[in-house]
Amino acid sequence: MNKPAFNPGSRLAALGHGFRRLRLPRMNVRKGTRIKRAFHVAIYGYGPEGKATSPSEEETTTSRPAFNLHFRLMSLGYKFRDSFSSRKNILKEVRIEPGFHVLDYGCGPGRYVCPLAELVGGSGKVYALDVQPAAIGEVQNIASKKQLANVETIVSDCRTGLHRNSLDAVLLYDTFHHLSDPDRVLSELHRVLKPGGILSFSDHHMEEKEILARVTNGQLFRPQRRGQNTYTFLKK
Ligand SMILES: C[S@@+](CC[C@H](N)C(=O)[O-])C[C@H]1O[C@@H](n2cnc3c(N)ncnc32)[C@H](O)[C@@H]1O
Repeated sequence: MNKPAFNPGSRLAALGHGFRRLRLPRMNVRKGTRIKRAFHVAIYGYGPEGKATSPSEEETTTSRPAFNLHFRLMSLGYKFRDSFSSRKNILKEVRIEPGFHVLDYGCGPGRYVCPLAELVGGSGKVYALDVQPAAIGEVQNIASKKQLANVETIVSDCRTGLHRNSLDAVLLYDTFHHLSDPDRVLSELHRVLKPGGILSFSDHHMEEKEILARVTNGQLFRPQRRGQNTYTFLKK
């Protein structure tokens, strides 16, 4: 299998990723000033106290700062990228059907939320999960503007809070290389997918060999096919 097509917009998104990799000194949130904290949030998307660990700990975005430098750069990169490729075409590779329950893990600014909501229809459900409150805020704005009643958001860095064997498909797009504990995330995705459920994967920062090895390593998923833009794995 060859690597899916590279897209020029990913250069700009990569700039956003670069910002995320900047290292700031570790700060104790109690001792740190508000300015230090705001700076940390702007770069990393979360405060010096660390990321949210579960949806129950941090369910909404309302108490979090709306501005995030990394997030804004990433969104800009994706807007540029989306002018070259259609997300509907990408989703065709996943073969999503009406009534499907789908999780967009690491949804970012929610590029797939509208086409997904349309594909699954009123009887389906779209869960959009991200560790960054700014991303989830953006998705909530989209869902409310477009009156998407079948979209739910989750702030988390791994646990979804969803039922075991409840999902038909999970999208894991350009997120795997960000994960600090990818095997834990894969195990959670395996838990929530129905037997035979679809894990649709892409990551422009990884070679095909690495993708296949990392996703199948834990014996949780088997490769099914590769499309122009994505790799499809099935839950074992
Ligand atoms: C490059 S963006 C991809 C956005 C989206 N999937 C897309 O393709 O348009 C990666 C996203 O993964 C999120 N992310 C990073 N680590 C995460 C984690 N442990 N759990 C959930 N989301 C995470 C980031 O906040 C970011 O929004």
